[in-house]
This record gives sequence, C-alpha cells and structure tokens, in this order.
Amino acid sequence: MGKKILVTGFTGNAGHQVALSLLDRGSAFHAAVRNVGKAKAEYGGQFQYVPFDLMDPASFDKALQGIDRVFLMYPPNACGPEWIKAFVDNCRNKGVRHIVYLSVKDVQYMPFLPHYQNEKAIQKSGISYTFLRAGYFMQNFNLFLLDEILKNNRIYVPAGKGKTSFVDVRDVADAAALVLNDPIVHRNKSYTLTGNEALTFYDAAKLLSAYTGREITYASPSSKEFQHYMRQKGTDPDFVKIAARLHMLTKYGFAKGIAEDFQKLMNKAATSLEQYFEDYREDFQKDQE
Ligand SMILES: NC(=O)c1ccc[n+]([C@@H]2O[C@H](COP(=O)([O-])OP(=O)(O)OC[C@H]3O[C@@H](n4cnc5c(N)ncnc54)[C@H](OP(=O)(O)O)[C@@H]3O)[C@@H](O)[C@H]2O)c1
Repeated sequence: MGKKILVTGFTGNAGHQVALSLLDRGSAFHAAVRNVGKAKAEYGGQFQYVPFDLMDPASFDKALQGIDRVFLMYPPNACGPEWIKAFVDNCRNKGVRHIVYLSVKDVQYMPFLPHYQNEKAIQKSGISYTFLRAGYFMQNFNLFLLDEILKNNRIYVPAGKGKTSFVDVRDVADAAALVLNDPIVHRNKSYTLTGNEALTFYDAAKLLSAYTGREITYASPSSKEFQHYMRQKGTDPDFVKIAARLHMLTKYGFAKGIAEDFQKLMNKAATSLEQYFEDYREDFQKDQE
C-alpha cells in the first residue's frame, strides 16, 4: 500500500483547506488532530483521523505510521519552535521524505518570527522540503477581524495606509496539495504566495461595504491603541504583540510585494479580494453574531 500524507492543523484555517484540496485531488491523507472524537463530530466520517499533539512527542510515532509526506503548520501561540524541531527530527527518524511547511512571506528578513527558526530546523534535518511563504490571509477578515466588523462595522488593525497583497488561504492550500502530490519537482524550494494586487485596508473596507450593503470603515489605530484595545478585549497578549508588529511592517510598505509563484505553480491567477468577499459574503452578515 502506498504511503500517505499527514495534514497537521486539520481543524484550523489553512490545514482544513489543504485537506479539502487533497480530497478534491483524490490524494490519500490522514487528518492529524488533538481530539479525534471532537473532530469526527464536527467534520464527519469522511476523513481518516489520527491523534497528534505537537507538544506530546508520545503521539508522533502513531501519527507518522504509514506517512511519507507532511503538511506542517505552526500553531500560532500554542508552542515554541523547539516542538517543531522535535517533531521534524522524529519525521526524519521515521523516514518522512518531504515536508511542506506553511511559512510567512519575507520570513528571511524577520528572525523574530518562530517561522524563521522552524525553517532552519527543517533545512538542518536534511528532509526534503518546500516552504510556502504566504502573505496576509484574506481569511483574517472572517476570523480575527470579524468580531470588530460585525460589532463595530470597522476593520481594526494598525496598518495605516500600507498596502497588502492579500492571499486567499484556498490558493495556499491548492499550492500545498500540488506540491504534496509531486514533491520531487518542488524539492528544497521556497514559494512566496500572494494575491495579484496590493490594497490598503481602506480599499478593503470599501469593497467589504459593497459586499455587505452596510458601511464598514477602516479605523487605522496606532500600534499602541491597537495593543491596548485588543488586550482589554481579552485577546492573547503574545498574539496581540505579533499582530501589532506585522501590521506595522505593512504600514511601512513591507507587505505590498506581489509574487508570481502562485500563477507559475498553478497556471491560473490568484483569487481576488472581491472574489473572496463574494464567496464569504454570509460570514459578514450581522445575523452571524
Ligand atoms: N493569518 C495570516 O495572515 C497568515 C499568513 C501567513 C502565514 N500564517 C501562518 O499560518 C499559521 C496559522 O494557520 P491557521 O490560520 O490555519 O491557524 P488556525 O486556524 O489558528 O489553526 C491552528 C491549528 O493548530 C492546531 N493546534 C493547536 N495546538 C496544537 C498542538 N499543540 N498540536 C497540534 N496541533 C495544534 C489547532 O488544532 P485544535 O483544533 O486542536 O486547537 C488548529 O487546527 C501560523 O503559523 C501563521 O503564522 C498566517
């Protein structure tokens, strides 16, 4: 029997889309989850679940049984890079032959990000890899930005007039599925995945207003205001700090670069922000509260 793919972060934003994309392609994979019962109840029996906790090395052996390729994501704020290293070392010992790692655009210039160390650990392991260095996910609008959009009709991030080349996580997932199915071609390569236009959050607010039929504004707080407000709302302080830093980079123009890697890999244009808002229109309706 052929070996399979392990998809980590299956219950999350990116991992789930990777699973759907692999399902579409008819690729065999296991869905790595911390709680199999909960995942089954939520996502049904169409997936083959395997228990996996990045912070529990005792779970690695079983999760890697029959696996030769891994889609690896770093759970934000859950654990330090040492856990990724421990898992990657285990992958090497178990004969995993390729890791597709979900990284961050321009990570090579941001040693303060855990992804920087995670990439280094994967490179050092000697396992063949592909780094998908993704830009700012469009799906942030329907996840971390959603509460303010629904409650206060505003986008609340400290990015000023900086532009972002928003990428749809479904595109990232399609690229991951492509690479996982043909890893040799993409051996030890890094791809920068962005959308095909750079827009400000003012532009995004205008578009979102058009798709929701109500006025959504961009609040443009300072970094200090953002951090204070998000912390007093109860958002994890580590997340707030990283989010403030990343949006400040956006403010100073570092998030606007457009890469052609997606177009080259997939032979089609990246999803536009309009298309994303159209597809997720329901998420932004008030009755979602
Ligand atoms: N947001 C962006 O704009 C952006 C852009 C580029 C790259 N990224 C990167 O993408 C990643 C985030 O992906 P995402 O949005 O898919 O995250 P997400 O939706 O927050 O999902 C996190 C996933 O990690 C799992 N998880 C948490 N702790 C775990 C543990 N100890 N062991 C195993 N799994 C665990 C969660 O499973 P449970 O259900 O068990 O909690 C969940 O499936 C981050 O590394 C981020 O830096 C994000």
